[in-house]
Order: sequence, then C-alpha cells, then structure tokens
Amino acid sequence: MTERELVITIDGPAGAGKSIVARRLAERLGYRLIDTGAMYRALAWSVSEAGLPPEDTPALRRHLAAVGVTLDGERVIVNGDDVTAKIRSREISDLTSRLTALGMVRDKVTPIQRALASRGGVVLEGRDTGTVVCPAADVKFYLDASIDERARRRQLELEGTGVAVAFDDLRAEIRARDVQDTTRALAPLRTPAGALEIDTSDLSVEQVLGRMLEAVERRRCCTRS
Ligand code: DC
Repeated sequence: MTERELVITIDGPAGAGKSIVARRLAERLGYRLIDTGAMYRALAWSVSEAGLPPEDTPALRRHLAAVGVTLDGERVIVNGDDVTAKIRSREISDLTSRLTALGMVRDKVTPIQRALASRGGVVLEGRDTGTVVCPAADVKFYLDASIDERARRRQLELEGTGVAVAFDDLRAEIRARDVQDTTRALAPLRTPAGALEIDTSDLSVEQVLGRMLEAVERRRCCTRS
C-alpha cells in the first residue's frame, strides 16, 4: 500500500536555524515547505502598503477580509502579486511581530496554513505550527539555540545582505523578540506536546538534519502497515 505522506512541524525562536533545515528537510523528503512566518510577513507588507496601523481597527478588519495570501512553492503571493523579495526588511519584521499578536490576523492566516497542510507531504515552519496550526502533526520538532549563537547567525545573515549591525544590538533585539513571541496571549511560542527538542547551538545543519531524518524514519516505521 502507498505510505501516507506525513505532516511535519518545526517551531522555535528566531535564529534557531529553522528556515535552513526546514527547506533542506522538505527537499530531502520531496515535501512541500510551508514557511508560515513568510505568510505573516506578506500580510504585514500588505498592511504597510495600505498605510494601516497594526491595531485592531475596523479598517484592518476590512483589509484582512479582502486580502488573499498564499504560497506558490517558496514564493509568497498577495492578491496575485509575488512579494517574496519585499518581506525581509527590519521594518516588516517589526510590523509582523506586532500584527501577529492580533487574533484577527492569526484567524486569517491559520486556516490557510491548515488547508495547505491538509493533504500531508508538508514541512511547516514557524512559531505555532505544532501547537496551534497542526497539533496532530505526525512529527513535531522544536529547535532552539543560545542567544549568542542566534545573534551571531543573524549578524552573518545581515552582513550577507550588506547590513552591518552591532552584535550587542542584535542580541538585545533577539531578546526583545523572544519576550514578545513567548508572552503574547495568542499562540505564544511554546514547545509543542510530543515535540523532539533540538539545541542547534553546536550542531551543523547536516547534524540537525540527520536527527530530524531519524525521527521521521522512526515515525514512518510506526505508521507503515
Ligand atoms: O520566522 P519569521 O521571522 O519569518 O517570522 C516573522 C514574524 O512572524 C515573527 O515575529 C514571528 C511571527 N510568526 C508567528 O507569530 N507565527 C508563526 N507561525 C510564524 C511567525
């Protein structure tokens, strides 16, 4: 019989290494990658374009009701336009962080993510994929790393785009983002029940990937009949 394709979730804070391993895991398994943060970022971009403040207002509600956000492979699409290249700025990061604290924003995006995941064969990556979006996922991971290592990775990433930021500033930014993400009332960042926790501070991407593939294989052995 054909094996059922799995739903795999990867949660964790910024800089834990989720994006790279999520992409590589999806490639290795031939699965679809669902970058949930990119969807929130795209929504934030549309809110910024519309000139709306990140507050629970009737105008934001109307905007959310009308806007369409989806993924096309790794491209993120808003109302038919590819906005992938426009969503990684620090301004959009800040706006996204504020908007994702709003129930109406999460209520807009979560069902789209569930629909994308519904047929399995997916790797979801984000902050609430194993806790809220797909709590019944087949394999759940929670990735973390030390603050210093996460700041170092962020610094390298920014340097790659020609932006120089002081290490201590990045460290403070990451700490502030953690507080925001873990203390918000809705879908706070948490280790999902039953998740395999991986501290990536001293591990290479290949080592993290190796652990993940082992966990996926263990799960496949259990579900094979
Ligand atoms: O992973 P990222 O940096 O692209 O996420 C952007 C923002 O969206 C960040 O503030 C966390 C938030 N987010 C969220 O609230 N829930 C998710 N599932 C994914 C991201």
